[in-house]
Amino acid sequence: MERDRFPDDFLWGAATAAYQIEGAVSEDGRGPSIWDTFSHSPGNTENGDTGDVACDHYHRWPDDVRLMQNLGVEAYRFSISWSRVIPEGFGQPNERGLDFYDSLVDGLLAANITPFVTLYHWDLPQALQDKGGWANRATVDAFVEYADLVVARLGDRVSHWITHNEPQVVTFAGNLQGRHAPGIQDLGTALQVAHHLLLSHGRVVPVLRSARAGAQVGITLNLSPALPASDSPEDQAAAQRFDMGNNRWFLDPLHGRGYPRELVELYGDRMPEIGDNDLDLIATPIDFLGVNYYFPQTIRAAPLSVHPLGGQNRTPEEEVAAGREITAMGWPVVPEAFTQLLQRVHADYAPKAIYITENGAAFDDKLEDGAVHDPQRIAYLRSHLDAVLSAINTGVPVRGYFVWSLLDNFEWAYGYSKRFGIVYVDYTTQERVLKDSARFFERVIDESGLPAEASPD
Ligand code: FCB
Repeated sequence: MERDRFPDDFLWGAATAAYQIEGAVSEDGRGPSIWDTFSHSPGNTENGDTGDVACDHYHRWPDDVRLMQNLGVEAYRFSISWSRVIPEGFGQPNERGLDFYDSLVDGLLAANITPFVTLYHWDLPQALQDKGGWANRATVDAFVEYADLVVARLGDRVSHWITHNEPQVVTFAGNLQGRHAPGIQDLGTALQVAHHLLLSHGRVVPVLRSARAGAQVGITLNLSPALPASDSPEDQAAAQRFDMGNNRWFLDPLHGRGYPRELVELYGDRMPEIGDNDLDLIATPIDFLGVNYYFPQTIRAAPLSVHPLGGQNRTPEEEVAAGREITAMGWPVVPEAFTQLLQRVHADYAPKAIYITENGAAFDDKLEDGAVHDPQRIAYLRSHLDAVLSAINTGVPVRGYFVWSLLDNFEWAYGYSKRFGIVYVDYTTQERVLKDSARFFERVIDESGLPAEASPD
């Protein structure tokens, strides 16, 4: 029977990441990360914005936890700043950094909110980057030590772990396009980084799982469906290559299939060094797959030399012409591609469980008379939640949904210019104001379903 509500045990959450919200970058012994270095180098972020203060969550976390509790949020996905707990990336731990996450976890549990802890959301300790970063195999060992330390401190209370957030973005935005930290532009480096990220994931799965009976471990991938711009064989082949390079490059090895052969051949001598057991370790079984979905890519054929992944995106103007609404990021709003994506992941890989670990949208929100009316975000959330429900109705085991994001925050190279929160942050006063979408989400959680459209939000 088609359900119009989410399953009873469906988990409703909100997501953030350390560098995007914490601030307090030089406090209590935290060491610098690659995002401190990158954002402080001129020209890398809009307006020269940095995460120095961000949402000041490091000091305001009790208020933020209370805010979630008041909205009825059941789970909170946050990440740990590696350089806050091990300032040099390996070696000497920083007790005060660990204390922060310890208190946060206690605060969440006291508020009846389940912590989902991400170990790596892009902020590599700068000291490790100085030795080659993720392209250096030694960083994998450092990550295992880091996981050991975190689990020793939090593992008695945390049951849900995410090893990496979006290795595809780390790989390509950070190391091929250079628009994210560490700002490298080299395909060989990028592919070695991807391999080490995946390897480090596989190696820490048993570490994280060991801490507590019933602990669940997963990895979060950003999966962007690749839609061919036309029926031409060239565009179709380009879309397939794009899918191989961005989605399957991570999905396939995680599920024991190695790297997609066609691209391995294309990459030739730019392929990374792969150790004997690496592919087995990468395929260590996980308990859930985290899926971040924002939008699909429309791919048209382009000379391979121009784009090593074999296609170019449409411009936002073309999306508008194609009749799609676009968000403040220029991303098209295509909810049905979300359903198809989830069905495809289920059919092709059958992960035991799926959590939507991020989904949401940026719009040009304005604070007026103490309120933020964001009907476009409400419409985005409604249509995408409906898309998740459709997937569940066809048997896809989606167990929970985390909205991106709880708070407006530091949107990487876009700085503070893009607002993704369901809660507005006034960066001059640090005041938090619930947007209309927060009230909408509160009702979704309360009903575990979509409130009727006619009723006031
Ligand atoms: C994802 C990131 C997250 C945020 C959203 C908008 O790629 O994981 O930190 O930037 O996009």
